[in-house]
Amino acid sequence: MRFHSFLIAIACVLFLGGSSVVAQPKGFNYDESKVPKFELPDSLIFDDGSPVKSVADWKKRRAEVLQLFRDHVYGNAPKLRGGLKVKLLSEEEALDGLAIRKQVRIQLTDKPYGPRFDLLIYRPAAAKKAVPAILGYNFYGNHTIHPDPGIVIHQSWSRNDKSKGVVNNRATEAGRGSRQSRWAVEMILKRGYALATIYYGDVEPDHKDGWEDSTRSYYLAPGRSKPAPTDWGAIGAWATGLSRALDYLGTDRSINEKQVVVFGHSRLGKTSLWTGASDERFAITISNNSGCGGAALSRRRFGETVKRINTVFPHWFNDRFNRYNENENDCPVDQHMLVALMAPRPVYIASAEEDRWADPNGEFLSGKHADPVYALFDKVGVGVDKQPGLDQPVGDTIGYHVRTGGHEVKDYDWEQYLNFADRHFGRTPKEPGSTKMKPVKK
Ligand code: GCU
Repeated sequence: MRFHSFLIAIACVLFLGGSSVVAQPKGFNYDESKVPKFELPDSLIFDDGSPVKSVADWKKRRAEVLQLFRDHVYGNAPKLRGGLKVKLLSEEEALDGLAIRKQVRIQLTDKPYGPRFDLLIYRPAAAKKAVPAILGYNFYGNHTIHPDPGIVIHQSWSRNDKSKGVVNNRATEAGRGSRQSRWAVEMILKRGYALATIYYGDVEPDHKDGWEDSTRSYYLAPGRSKPAPTDWGAIGAWATGLSRALDYLGTDRSINEKQVVVFGHSRLGKTSLWTGASDERFAITISNNSGCGGAALSRRRFGETVKRINTVFPHWFNDRFNRYNENENDCPVDQHMLVALMAPRPVYIASAEEDRWADPNGEFLSGKHADPVYALFDKVGVGVDKQPGLDQPVGDTIGYHVRTGGHEVKDYDWEQYLNFADRHFGRTPKEPGSTKMKPVKK
């Protein structure tokens, strides 16, 4: 590994999600009273200043907002060339008969040795018809989400971490099951959902030079030696991987492709939000502790800031996003508009009390400020004005909770996500009161 890649890898270890490691770095604001005054850009005003008054107007405005996010934040992704190319690795009973485990290898370019990823799908063995599915990336490999010995171990670059069995940037058998606490596999299956997951490093290694080994290098414009300032960043590449996975799920008759939920934690929660925004086939989007560049409002400068994220993780966003380092107010969008891009589809934002780096209140506020867009559709978003107390889920079409504890994915979070999905997929009677809330009109 080149020396600067090594430094980046070290930085990534230090800043990678995990409550013990992601402390609250010093030198940033964690005091609500010191949040600067700011004005949010209005989702419901066109770039030319005219107001959005109807759902038909919003469809046009939505295209503008999406393009602003592409040009200023996540970058423009090309259309993948070539059709869906899939190799079945295995399909068999697993988890003591609870699940069918299927593993497929999917190419991201038309070159067989170009970037590709392994999709692991567990589906309830007892299912008699197509089931809804949760799709999300994992940080260290499919084999880390469960001790199941049948899960294939990936060969991609991985950030060194002994506790996850990664040695010399390669995953090993020792990592099997090391991240199972974050993945409520049995709970999800027992609730009648399939779980589909991918190691995000298969799609693009998470370091500054990772793009050279990802789809991003295959789609450089002729004559360019690196992505242009408004080209996609790593989050854009990861989002494209999830869309490709959904292409595949649409061909799998055991999955209901109209009920696929995209989920992600932390940087992968930023990714799930961008995926749900840019690919409207996803029925529900879930962002767990996604923070800066995810659900948190950038203009608040609470915890992680735009400058900090662009400095430590220069590859996540497009280069133009650097313009807004210490200059958030000049950005034509803020993250409430990203949430609004989901409308009228349901979206869930979750925070954690101790995860102040991710600005829990800022995450809540982006949901709240997306409410007027949901109201256009006569839907209630979060439907409350203030961040609720700990462990008190709120919201109708925009779900929100702040959980006790740190930057993590806990069974508590999964319970809320499954309840929310059940409610929106009509799998249980609607919770009392939820339909009686009044949409927040502007
Ligand atoms: C760092 C980074 C966050 C990110 C997190 C993670 O803490 O600053 O923006 O969400 O890593 O992905 O674990």
